[in-house]
Amino acid sequence: MNTEDLELLEAVEPTVARLTAEHRERRENWYAHEYVPWEKGRSFVDEPWDPSQATLSPEVRTSLVLNLLTEDNLPYYHAEIAGRLPRDGAYAEWANLWTAEEGQHAIALRSYLLTSRNCDPVSLEEDRMATMEAGHFSGYEDPAALFVYTATQELATRVSHRNAGRLADDETAYSLMARIATDENHHFLFYRGVASEMLEQSPETMLEPIFRVFDNFKMPGTVIPGFVRRAVDMARVGVYSLRIHHDRVLEPLLRDWRIEHLTGLSAKAREFQEKIMEIPDRVLKAAEIFERRTARLAGSS
Ligand SMILES: [Fe+2]
Ligand SMILES: [Fe+2]
Repeated sequence: MNTEDLELLEAVEPTVARLTAEHRERRENWYAHEYVPWEKGRSFVDEPWDPSQATLSPEVRTSLVLNLLTEDNLPYYHAEIAGRLPRDGAYAEWANLWTAEEGQHAIALRSYLLTSRNCDPVSLEEDRMATMEAGHFSGYEDPAALFVYTATQELATRVSHRNAGRLADDETAYSLMARIATDENHHFLFYRGVASEMLEQSPETMLEPIFRVFDNFKMPGTVIPGFVRRAVDMARVGVYSLRIHHDRVLEPLLRDWRIEHLTGLSAKAREFQEKIMEIPDRVLKAAEIFERRTARLAGSS
């Protein structure tokens, strides 16, 4: 890591400690068994899975499975966060706490999907193996981009979990996904808070990483088999789409970080400021193209 990155990490460490303490204040212990319908669990050996047993719509099942496989890849997210940040002090305390909380998401979601028979246990395991063997790295090696990316990703995940639960039309799925989304929101508040402090301390150097992340934002699930097909299904039903990304993720973050209103910047930084402010329109145009195409396909079927 270069000296500038180390200095930035050192400069925001007090904020990391403060935000971790605030997170501990806010967090509530919760237990997967309070949500999982264990009484419905039956042997898949005696009674193999069949799609007719599912109680949720195919699109909602696709969304929940994709979100589960994304959560399953936690070892890679941990490796990236813990591996690129200092291994002691406030950074390590946060990385460990965050990893422990994330670990429960896949446990709870998998238990729900299997007990309620809303996924095929064989293809789920095959997809998990393929996903984890593919591995995942965001590609952001500098701490500035890593915090901006993780803030964006936590917010996107919160929205996706919440919408999948809402559209499930099932009390258990609704409350479980709302519970997980609350965790993601708390994670988002932490990562956004650290990135805000970095921006406060060093607006000049933060605009380039913000541009790099926003210009090419990808959810961590892209290594999942059939990701594009599944993501299109999720977009069609309104779990997560380009328009949702624009309205619920990009615009709020640009407002929170007051990107448009930053002043006193160098010519280079101003250039990134302008390029960042062009991104939402581009995403919206792509969203409109997707929606028109989807409507056309729906009309012709
Ligand atoms: Fe999670
Ligand atoms: Fe999270």
